[in-house]
Amino acid sequence: MQKEDNLKEVISHAKEYGFVFPSSEIYDGLSATYDYGQLGSELKNNIKSYWWKSMVQMHDNIVGIDSAIFMHPTVWKASGHVDAFNDPLIDNKDSKKRYRADVLIEDHIEKYIQKIDKEVKKGIKRFGDDFDVEQFKATNPNVLRNKAKIEEIEERMRETLGKNDLEGVYNLIVDLGIVCPISGTKNWTEVRQFNLMFSTELGSVAGDAAKIYLRPETAQGIFVNFLNVQKTGRMKIPFGIAQIGKAFRNEIVARQFIFRMREFEQMEMQFFVRPGEEMKWYEYWKDQRIKWHNKLGLGEDNYRFHDHVKLAHYANAAADIEFNFPMGFKELEGIHSRTDFDLKQHEEYSGKKLQYFDPELNKNYVPYVVETSIGLDRMFLAVLSSSFKNETLEDASERAVLSLPPALAPYKVAVMPLTRKDGLPEKAREVLDTLKYDFNCQYDEKDSPGKRYRRQDAIGTPYCVMIDHQTLEDNTVTIRDRDTMKQDRVSIEELRGMISSKVSFMTLLK
Ligand code: GAP
Repeated sequence: MQKEDNLKEVISHAKEYGFVFPSSEIYDGLSATYDYGQLGSELKNNIKSYWWKSMVQMHDNIVGIDSAIFMHPTVWKASGHVDAFNDPLIDNKDSKKRYRADVLIEDHIEKYIQKIDKEVKKGIKRFGDDFDVEQFKATNPNVLRNKAKIEEIEERMRETLGKNDLEGVYNLIVDLGIVCPISGTKNWTEVRQFNLMFSTELGSVAGDAAKIYLRPETAQGIFVNFLNVQKTGRMKIPFGIAQIGKAFRNEIVARQFIFRMREFEQMEMQFFVRPGEEMKWYEYWKDQRIKWHNKLGLGEDNYRFHDHVKLAHYANAAADIEFNFPMGFKELEGIHSRTDFDLKQHEEYSGKKLQYFDPELNKNYVPYVVETSIGLDRMFLAVLSSSFKNETLEDASERAVLSLPPALAPYKVAVMPLTRKDGLPEKAREVLDTLKYDFNCQYDEKDSPGKRYRRQDAIGTPYCVMIDHQTLEDNTVTIRDRDTMKQDRVSIEELRGMISSKVSFMTLLK
């Protein structure tokens, strides 16, 4: 299956089974905003719990907070977001469509990448297994020509964007002959900087002072509370403050389903360390975070690190963990060594000291910060897209299955009576009552057992428990495993322990 088709299938499956809906759908939706449905919110909550448990509850030197979305407007001046949280944008005068200038150029580069891939595919078709792809790429004149073109464009893009030379970016678009995908014309406006923060007004204040922002990252809520938490929690460096919450960015190019949204959730942790020790902790958190991902079992090959060459003004090291999404490898999480930039800026703008007294060194200092920042919605898409499969079974029938990590599945177990008579529904309800305190369970008595199993496979329920006539005689049930589709006969008393050993977070985190 083509990757783009895979994304389309994931989107339609997510909608069909109540995971994700376009927001305000009855009004034709609102671009780049989505609602999580009844199963989506369960899956999302489970991902949050997995992160919170491992990050906060399993570290005695990390605590969690929940700060307000609205913050004092000076916060965003101090953090640099008012002046520098911009994307370069360009409009096409004919289609009236707005684009991110760098994305237009990147899409143009993609055409050369596709040309190279086409040459490689031709070679593979011609020479089969003997074809040496790397040697071909290093020597074939067409490939080399396209590679040189890519390097030349990337160099000009780095140079112009790096210097904030918007005229240079415009010239590059014109020189490359880039046309608007909608109108097909080159009738462009100049390139302008566009701030990504949403603003609104505070009801009780008039004029300019009323302008406040919807936070574009949760991290600043942690920085401004650094001393509150350190003092009240008697935290000793190194320590971390974590938070899960909404963030808002007025993305110009918002596409690829829930990958890039205007309203999304972040799970961030700021780890405060001694100045000079930040690189040690940066490596530590890179290692910890990739282990966290790998434990989920979505496939180690689906992750890779991308170290940033061009660093943000506040960072002295940064890397992304990229995931193999249906659209290819893209950023899932960022790990940033943010130096003492943010706390120092807040000291300057607020006039308040944000320092830590280190009893071992017997001195005060502004701590350095290593940050881990993951998008909850991107994590949701990573889990959903890598778990979704259409399988052809031995009897040639088909099933759609979500092989979600059991600990993240919306329902852990579906309890079903074989038929709707002979006291089986009542017995099934009894069994459900013994399980519902520990697990999110679903009761399902409609349709044939086969259809019910398919329905549970499609929403990723790891276990189905069937109550049949034998249950009434000996208190045993069958338990069916989603992945192997094998059924075992077990006693009702055994169920809780069996299911628990498979679906608890402990199996992932231990
Ligand atoms: N505090 C650091 C920070 O916000 P970032 O790289 O801009 O860093 C962190 O964002 C993570 O937030 C990203 O790795 C991504 O997972 C998620 N994210 C950023 N913009 C997003 C968007 N428009 N939609 C969904 N997730 C987004």
